[in-house]
Formats: sequence, structure tokens, C-alpha cells
Amino acid sequence: MDLPTGLPYPGLGFLLTLVFGFWLSRRGRPYNGLLFNIHKLIALASVILAATRIYQLLKPLDIQAPIAILLVISALSVVALFLSGALMSANQGEYRTIKLIHNASPFILVLSAACTAYLL
Ligand code: HEM
Repeated sequence: MDLPTGLPYPGLGFLLTLVFGFWLSRRGRPYNGLLFNIHKLIALASVILAATRIYQLLKPLDIQAPIAILLVISALSVVALFLSGALMSANQGEYRTIKLIHNASPFILVLSAACTAYLL
């Protein structure tokens, strides 16, 4: 079976990550292990798929500084999501601040990705 090109899988994965994130959050702490692992693994798979697709899309292009800056912002928000998620699950650090970072990062990610798509 031929897999369609484009970004449907990372996009769908991102939506599923959000759904499982809200579900995990609603169940409260201590976190439900199954929901936590599904949330984390879908996030990881989506990031790998998205990074592969973006690399393929951008490889033949001459990247301008604004796009490079937006890509760095997107990458940093992904790092922030994984670090904050890991810290919350390990019960480390100041929970309210870390959760705020985890809640704000998806907005920064979507905004920087949308601006990148617009500039391309
Ligand atoms: C693309 C990556 C990710 C996105 C977009 C994302 C998004 C979300 C969202 C929207 C919530 C619900 C927050 C709320 O209801 O206030 C959430 C909760 C959570 N996520 Fe993520 N997440 C991502 C990756 C991760 C990773 C990699 C981990 C673990 C290493 C993780 C751990 C958690 C935990 C522990 C919660 C529950 C927080 C709480 O309410 O106490 N997340 N996530």
C-alpha cells in the first residue's frame, strides 16, 4: 500500500497527542501509566515523522534567516515539551511553572510552524 505524502500523519499524531494529553491531565496524579505512555509515544512518533518530512521538504530549498529562526523556535518548543513532560512525570521541579511551560509550548509550536508554512 502506498502511503500518501504530505503531513497528514504528523498532523494527526499531534491531534492525538493533544487528546491523550488532556485525558491524562483529567485523570490527575499519580498519572495513569497507559495514558502517559500513549501520550509520550505518539508525541515521539509525530515529532520523528514531522522532522523527517520537514527535512525532505526543505533540503532542496535555500533557507532564509526568518525561516531558520522559526525552525529553531519550533525545535526549542518540542524540547520544552519533552523536558517539561519528563519533569512532571518524575515529580521534579515546581509543578505549576513546568505545567505552564507544557501548556504554552504547543501554542508556540503551532504558531511557529504556521508562520514557517506561510513564509514557504
Ligand atoms: C508534541 C508533544 C506534546 C504535546 C503537544 C503535549 C501536549 C499536552 C497537553 C495539551 C496536555 C494537557 C494539559 C492540560 O490539560 O492542562 C498534556 C499533559 C501532559 N503531558 Fe504532554 N505533550 C507532549 C509531549 C509530552 C511528553 C513527551 C511527555 C512525557 C515525557 C508529556 C507528559 C505529559 C504529562 C505528564 C501531562 C499531564 C500534566 C498534568 O496535568 O499534570 N507530554 N500534554
